[in-house]
Amino acid sequence: MNMFLMPIVPIEIALKYLTNQQVVSIPTETVYGLAANATSDEAVAKIYTLKNRPQFNPLIMHVPSIEMVERWAIVSEFAKQLMDEFWMKRGVSISFVLELKKNHPLSLLALAGLNTVAVRRPNHPVALEILNSLPFPLAAPSANRSNNLSTTTANHVLESLGDGVPVVDGGSCAVGLESTILDMTQDQMTLLRLGAVTADDLAPFGKVTHAYTEGAIKAPGMLKRHYAPQRPLKMNVLNKESDMALLGFEDCADANLNLSISGNLNEAAANLFSYLHQLDREPFTSIGVNPIPDTGIGAAINDRLKRACEEG
Ligand code: TXA
Ligand code: MG
Repeated sequence: MNMFLMPIVPIEIALKYLTNQQVVSIPTETVYGLAANATSDEAVAKIYTLKNRPQFNPLIMHVPSIEMVERWAIVSEFAKQLMDEFWMKRGVSISFVLELKKNHPLSLLALAGLNTVAVRRPNHPVALEILNSLPFPLAAPSANRSNNLSTTTANHVLESLGDGVPVVDGGSCAVGLESTILDMTQDQMTLLRLGAVTADDLAPFGKVTHAYTEGAIKAPGMLKRHYAPQRPLKMNVLNKESDMALLGFEDCADANLNLSISGNLNEAAANLFSYLHQLDREPFTSIGVNPIPDTGIGAAINDRLKRACEEG
């Protein structure tokens, strides 16, 4: 980031940054988002680094239209009816979880390796102008450091994340609370997170199941809904065992793939899910991973690997 630039930027500059795989904080009607090109692992890795997140939770994809979603996710008639009603007619804050089409262009890091995706059309004129000007969706969690409060003004964002992140100032957020999340992957309504849209709002459209509990509302993404390779995974592996695929980090002569030859953790995070996918196949019977330093975004990489070991 050029340090001579003001952290508050106009939309045209924000579009340039986003197109160049940089992160920009944008206003939405719920909270400010920390946005990046959702089709770029490199851009998405910067979100996790800036947030200092200890885990990779799947991120919500922000879209300007139902048509964009239909390009890469399966939108049933029922899901389309709800999107039309809640996004287009009422303009309220709800995200839908859908199944992805096979050849989708989205970053596996942003999806935390899942084959489902959360999508949302924010009802904010600045967010919509930005989204309408870009050919790709924006992955955007709330623009705050992990464990800090969500941010509802441009100043909050600067206080929470420092002045290294450009912010588009869109005034204060009207809703102030993250969107409701509704899982539609079974073609029925399952509430994963409560927000401005309530179960009562959804009830006229059919049966609503609740999948959250009081304590877990904040992070349903931390449940076991994460990608784990089919093959058993081992951490801190230095030497390859027979039939093992070795995922290297830094110097590693016999790695099948290397997360980052230069030892760059940001690059390693960007490559993690797509490389695990690539190694999760014949003729390998297991996947070993070199030790990853537990600093910065390395902690999130190790968290993800530990979960994959348990699930595998
Ligand atoms: O209002 C909002 O939704 C804000 C603003 C910025 O738009 N965004 C937001 O995003 O809260 P984020 O990334 O913090 O929320 C991500 C949460 C995950 O922790 C997970 O709970 C859920 O969305 N999520 C995302 N993808 C999912 C999936 N495929 N299946 C289930 N839950 C998912
Ligand atoms: Mg958040």
